[in-house]
Amino acid sequence: MEHKEQFIFGAGGHGKVIAELIQGNNFKVEAFIDDCPKSKLLNSIPVYSSNFLEANDMKLSVIIAVGDNLTRKNISKRLRNNIFFSCYHKNALLSPSITIGEGTVVMSNSVINSNATIGKHVIINTATIVEHDCNIESFVHISPRATLLGAVNVGEGTHIGSGVVVLPGVTIGKWCIIGAGSVILKDIPDGSIVVGNPGRIIKENPVFIKALESESLLVYFG
Ligand SMILES: CC(C)(COP(=O)(O)OP(=O)(O)OC[C@H]1O[C@@H](n2cnc3c(N)ncnc32)[C@H](O)[C@@H]1OP(=O)(O)O)[C@@H](O)C(=O)NCCC(=O)NCCS
Repeated sequence: MEHKEQFIFGAGGHGKVIAELIQGNNFKVEAFIDDCPKSKLLNSIPVYSSNFLEANDMKLSVIIAVGDNLTRKNISKRLRNNIFFSCYHKNALLSPSITIGEGTVVMSNSVINSNATIGKHVIINTATIVEHDCNIESFVHISPRATLLGAVNVGEGTHIGSGVVVLPGVTIGKWCIIGAGSVILKDIPDGSIVVGNPGRIIKENPVFIKALESESLLVYFG
């Protein structure tokens, strides 16, 4: 976290947790920024409307505090001219051999073990375990107390629910949702919603189609 004045995009519950994490690391949160601010102050920190960002020529140091993975991805495209910072709770245990992309947050009491690779704008939520050699793609959210055992792969935009356990070497596709408390024994195809122990696919995640559409629109419009 090299930038001293930091902005948080998203003045909701997740934003408040990130603000306390940043302050706990002795950095200043300059302001929250939100598309629809509900108040002028949140936990004594000013809340600016996003017009402020769009009217500002300066590159700001910003983290996106929005739990929904596709929304976070879309906001990252909107804010791409700024500098995204990552932040790690001081009680998180990060192996020195891991790599972590910009805009990613690691919450308290999480453990990320050797040679794991974490993409951009990922949320590693409270007390999760990401074991050695895991590969977590961008815009993933790993919810509190989930455990990914060794060499698990998680595709872009997937939401791993609270308390999920994923067995070693399993690959979970892109834009899936793994229901809270599920145990995942084998590979899961892109866009699946899975629940239970052992995890079973119950339906397709409608967000998967939206994510594909937003990518093809990008290609179409260059
Ligand atoms: C998986 C999930 C997304 C499904 O939500 P949904 O699409 O609204 O599905 P429904 O609630 O209609 O449930 C569909 C079926 O799956 C079952 N089900 C839902 N979630 C389940 C879970 N976590 N474990 C086991 N079964 C579950 C329901 O009982 C229902 O079964 P039925 O058809 O036999 O009645 C949601 O239940 C969930 O677990 N979300 C993760 C929450 C979480 O961890 N958030 C972290 C925030 S930081």
